[in-house]
Amino acid sequence: MSILKFSNVSKSFGEGIHREDVLNNIDLEVQEGEFLVLLGFSGTGKTTLINLMAGLEAPTKGSLSFKGKPITGPGPERGVIFQNYSLMPWLTVAGNVGLAVDTIFPDMSRADKAAKVEHYV
Ligand SMILES: Nc1ncnc2c1ncn2[C@@H]1O[C@H](COP(=O)(O)OP(=O)(O)OP(=O)(O)O)[C@@H](O)[C@H]1O
Ligand SMILES: [Mg+2]
Repeated sequence: MSILKFSNVSKSFGEGIHREDVLNNIDLEVQEGEFLVLLGFSGTGKTTLINLMAGLEAPTKGSLSFKGKPITGPGPERGVIFQNYSLMPWLTVAGNVGLAVDTIFPDMSRADKAAKVEHYV
């Protein structure tokens, strides 16, 4: 079974005359352990495709699944390193790392969360 599957995925931005079709009918299956490079000119939709995989954008048409389950939002099993830094400048380093820890481990004790943040910092 493929680990990641795009089935007839299309993504457009905007409406009416401002509509821009970025991805058209993408069928893609990625196997476990496969290493894939996405290559294309600027503005051809690489980040859009990654955002769909990450669950940060929803497809206009078609569907995506990860290990057989529909992708409906972000999840800890699909990590993305952004092109540009996405940090909260008003938070400390620990505060920024802590945001992710809080999201992924909401039921963890404060002490365990602090230890996890410390470990990754
Ligand atoms: N949120 C958005 N709203 C409207 N248009 C968008 C949005 N995100 C991307 N686009 C448009 O979709 C197209 C593809 O953009 P995308 O960022 O996916 O390209 P890219 O291949 O990652 O480019 P680069 O190599 O510069 O990173 C561009 O024309 C961009 O302007
Ligand atoms: Mg990009």
